[in-house]
Amino acid sequence: MPSAVAASGSNHALRVQPVIAEAVDLLRASFPATLAVETHLAAADAAMTGDPTELQQVVMNLGTNAAQAMNSRGVLEIALDMTEIVEAQALSHGNLPAGRYIRLAVRDTGSGMDQATLERIFEPFFTTKPAGHGTGLGLSTVHGIVAAHRGAVDVKSQLGQGTTFEIYFPQIEPASAQADEGEGEATEVPVEYGNAETILVVDDDTPLMQLAEEMLAALGYEPVGFNRSPAALNAFSADPGRFDLVLTDEVMPDMTGVELSGKLHEIRSDLPIVLMTGYGRTLRSRQLTAAGISEVIKKPLLSASVAQCLARHLHSS
Ligand SMILES: Nc1ncnc2c1ncn2[C@@H]1O[C@H](COP(=O)(O)OP(=O)(O)OP(=O)(O)O)[C@@H](O)[C@H]1O
Ligand SMILES: [Mg+2]
Repeated sequence: MPSAVAASGSNHALRVQPVIAEAVDLLRASFPATLAVETHLAAADAAMTGDPTELQQVVMNLGTNAAQAMNSRGVLEIALDMTEIVEAQALSHGNLPAGRYIRLAVRDTGSGMDQATLERIFEPFFTTKPAGHGTGLGLSTVHGIVAAHRGAVDVKSQLGQGTTFEIYFPQIEPASAQADEGEGEATEVPVEYGNAETILVVDDDTPLMQLAEEMLAALGYEPVGFNRSPAALNAFSADPGRFDLVLTDEVMPDMTGVELSGKLHEIRSDLPIVLMTGYGRTLRSRQLTAAGISEVIKKPLLSASVAQCLARHLHSS
C-alpha cells in the first residue's frame, strides 16, 4: 500500500546477525571500561523481514537499560540464535505462536525488578529513574518495534540478581534476504499505511496525545490532536467533512470519550470512531453502538494494532 507520507521504517528481508553486531559495537563504544559486553551471536544466516535501524534501536535501548541496572559494572551478555517453537507458548508479556524464530537475548546481572515494576515496564513514560534521568520511553519503543515486526517479548527478572530480555522475531527463508538495500518490495511486512487521511485525536493526557500523533504520522496519517474534548468538538463542528476518523480517549474531564462520540455521531453518522481505553474498563456494547463507536482499542497503543484498526475502518470495501 503506497503512502503519501514516508513511514518510519523501511521493511525488507535482511540477515539479522550483522545488524545486531553493528548495534553491539555502538553500545560498547558508549560504555565505560568497567562494563564488558560478551556476545554469542550465532544464527549467522538467519533472516527476517524488518527495518535494520529499528532493530538496532531495540538493542541500544535494552543494552542501555541493562548497563544502568548494573551501574556500569560487570558483564552484560547479548546472544542471538534460532529456535523452533513447536507449540504456542505464553510469554511474560504476550503469546508466541508456533513457528521458527530468531531470538535475541540481553542478559544483565543488575538490580532486577519486582513484580509491580515488571508489570508496567512497557507503559509509555513509566520509569523508576529520578526526574530528569529517564523518559520511560525506552521499553515502550522496544515494544512498539517488536510488535510491528510481529515479534514477542519474554522478560525474566529477579530482584538483586538480574534481568533477561528475550525478543522473538519470526524467521524467513535465508535465500530471500537481500545483501543490498532497497529491493525488498516483494517481502514487505504487511503493515497498512495511511493515505494522508485526517485523524482527530483526543486525549486529555497531552504527552499521550502527542505520542499518538507521532505514531499516526509515522503510519502515513495526518493527525490533528486536542487535549480537551470540548475543543475537539468545536473543531469538528466547524468543519465536519475535514476528518476521516476519530481516535478518542474515554476517561476525560468535561466530556468523556463516549459522550463526545455521541455528539460527533449526531453531526456525521458515517464517521468511524475508535475509542481508546485503559485496562480493566468495561463499557456496555449498547452504549457504544448508540454513540457510533466502531471499535474499542486498549492503551497503551501499539503501532501495528493501530495500523490494522485504522485500515479496517478506512481502507476496507
Ligand atoms: N535491565 C533492567 N533491569 C532492571 N530494571 C529495568 C531494566 N530495564 C528496564 N527496567 C525498568 O523499567 C523501567 C522502564 O524502562 P525504560 O527503558 O522504558 O525507561 P527508562 O530507562 O526509565 O528511561 P529512558 O529509557 O527514557 O532513559 C526503568 O525505569 C526500570 O525501572
Ligand atoms: Mg531505558
